[in-house]
Amino acid sequence: MALYLITGVGGFIGSSLARALLARGEKVRGVDNFSTGKRENLTEILDRIDFCEADICDLDAMQQACAGVDFVLHQAAIPSVPKSVLDPLGSNRANVDGTVNVLVAARDAKVKRVVYAASSSAYGDTPTLPKHEAMRPDPISPYAVAKLAGEHYMVSFYRCYGLETVCLRYFNVFGPRQDPSSPYSGVLAKFITSMLHGEQPTIFGDGEQSRDFTYIDNVVDGNLLACCAPAARAAGKVFNVATGRRITLNETFRALQALTSYSGQPNYGSERSGDIKHSLADISRAEADLGYRPSVSFEDGLRKTVEWYRGE
Ligand code: UD1
Repeated sequence: MALYLITGVGGFIGSSLARALLARGEKVRGVDNFSTGKRENLTEILDRIDFCEADICDLDAMQQACAGVDFVLHQAAIPSVPKSVLDPLGSNRANVDGTVNVLVAARDAKVKRVVYAASSSAYGDTPTLPKHEAMRPDPISPYAVAKLAGEHYMVSFYRCYGLETVCLRYFNVFGPRQDPSSPYSGVLAKFITSMLHGEQPTIFGDGEQSRDFTYIDNVVDGNLLACCAPAARAAGKVFNVATGRRITLNETFRALQALTSYSGQPNYGSERSGDIKHSLADISRAEADLGYRPSVSFEDGLRKTVEWYRGE
């Protein structure tokens, strides 16, 4: 049994990781400042995790949180492209300063490995598809820059201090518990909840932008594999975690029409600043080095997610 520290444990991804680890009999400690995470996500597991309400920018709190920890799953972030365009300082503070704090605390506590929630937004709008890890990053939004800076810090702490770090570039994660309520929420959480309520969703742009939407269980698998992969294959490296298929927002809307019985049409608004047009991952590096395979397809994940929001 190992002790895992999850930063951002109240978030959609963090709380899903906590559930999966508890189900495997592992010990979980978690921190969250509830800036984007939610207490409700922890309701039925709070008595089984060692939880501390703290900000990752608080170094003392991170040092206490890292004491005795084997693995850190660093998920805490302000995970929004448009929010970073409005508030680049806030994005930098949480996503860069916070990450360096977590790394310093993990290094000093001699944790075995830090796995970091990196972002596919690092690739930017380069025309090459699929995106592979050897491509030169070309971030557009302040969020993408901050997430990429976090990756560089991860690699730097491996090179300078020998702290084993693994960066997982997530591609548009979706699934149960993703918060639909903020204007910065992920598109699928927003679309599903509005369509289930008979409300018209808004597509920013022409809807022909595409994403490699990745169901949460695949991301959980990626994290668990990143903890146990041999250091020679994983430490100091960056991996795409995705499905390897892309779907446009128009196609996604049609798939959701069938699943939600929403009969209206989408409202088309103006394109969102900082957005990228297409996103698709090459997942061969994660397959080869981590033994990663996406176990849940986009269609199955979408169905499970709609069922969850419907309360089934
Ligand atoms: C998402 C993640 C980000 C992650 C990145 C790569 C969220 C909130 N953001 O960014 O953390 O690093 O993937 O994995 O999960 N859209 C609409 N209507 C809406 C909302 C969005 O048309 O109501 C469009 C956007 O303009 C964009 C696409 O849907 O073209 C996806 O947007 P969003 O879900 O916010 O994700 P990303 O910006 O791709």
